[in-house]
Amino acid sequence: MIISGIEAEGFRNLSSLRAEFDGGVNVIVGPNGQGKTNLLEALYYMTTGRSFRARSEAEMISFTADGALVTMRARLSDREKEIKLELSRQSRRKIWINGVRRKNMDEISEHAAAVLFCPDDLHIVKAGSSPRRRLMDSALSQIYPRYSSDLQAYGKTLEGKSRILRDSAEKPRLLELIDEYDDRLAALGARLIHYRARYARRLSEIASGIHRDFSGGKEELEIIYRTVSVIDDPSMRPAELYPLLLDRLRQLRAAERAAMQCLSGAHKDDLEILINGRSAKKFASQGQTRTAALSVKLAERDIFTQVMGEPPILLLDDVLSELDEDRQSFILNRSARGQVFITCCSLDRSSGFAERILPIYEGRVDGESV
Ligand SMILES: Nc1ncnc2c1ncn2[C@@H]1O[C@H](COP(=O)(O)OP(=O)(O)OP(=O)(O)O)[C@@H](O)[C@H]1O
Ligand SMILES: [Mg+2]
Repeated sequence: MIISGIEAEGFRNLSSLRAEFDGGVNVIVGPNGQGKTNLLEALYYMTTGRSFRARSEAEMISFTADGALVTMRARLSDREKEIKLELSRQSRRKIWINGVRRKNMDEISEHAAAVLFCPDDLHIVKAGSSPRRRLMDSALSQIYPRYSSDLQAYGKTLEGKSRILRDSAEKPRLLELIDEYDDRLAALGARLIHYRARYARRLSEIASGIHRDFSGGKEELEIIYRTVSVIDDPSMRPAELYPLLLDRLRQLRAAERAAMQCLSGAHKDDLEILINGRSAKKFASQGQTRTAALSVKLAERDIFTQVMGEPPILLLDDVLSELDEDRQSFILNRSARGQVFITCCSLDRSSGFAERILPIYEGRVDGESV
């Protein structure tokens, strides 16, 4: 997909923003707090139907407005699309695609994807397991709509079972429902695990190549998928994984009742990231952490390109600031295929790669250059 332009009113601090984009590298430049990340958020939301940071729709509405209106124009599979979004404090979001009211953005998100890299993504390497699960989940949800609904169903079922275990001391009869919950968790978990295993293997292959180039051949990156311990080969078919997961839950029944919580399942999955055979979480330096996280994200973009037949839009929020010149050039070279949006506070190396420079000030893009 290529985004040709966007108009936004009342979306965060974008009060009356209007911008036209190039199909290549767009550099969004402005001092802190002017709306650079907000613009990336609008582009991401209009492509995927999800925000990468807001917990609610209302959070994206300007503090001083009752609603937000965003219109994005894009070229998708050789067709022009106009996606219009209305957010309101009073009601749920409304979406129109080419003037026709739609329940969601599936028509766009099934054929287009967005890959974002922001400073928080360093957590992929250094933090606990949840950002790494989110990395897999967000990519797989964009690729397979079925994965997204399985993931939601898994989350709800897990919540239900946790509640039962918690309340069982007072209401022991609730435990009669546990069999049903475990069956569902094993069935849904088997599908999540199957897809995650295949995705992790592909991610590892591609990211290690990128990381090798990025580090001038000095570093080997490896990503290993870790799931429920009784599973030797997580890429087995879901029908083969299901009985193993169910057995494990039965073995743990007494322990879960005693602990009053869920002890095993896909919700504990993790990716182990190794650099030169050592745990990156424990040993990677700041530069190595950044390089590894970027390699993983660029690999994600390559996977989307293979699956969808064209590159996803790439949103790079403030990635260049802490990289040395060689690494900046590497990133800019590597990403300059397909459409890219890069934010920065001042024009440095990126300007040489920019097809369009968009200065942003107080939520408005004022005039364009290049
Ligand atoms: N719902 C909202 N309504 C109005 N303003 C908001 C809303 N949410 C965030 N903002 C404000 O928008 C401004 C711009 O935020 P943004 O994160 O886009 O800045 P930025 O240009 O990326 O800055 P930095 O270089 O520091 O990352 C901030 O001052 C922020 O407080
Ligand atoms: Mg920002």
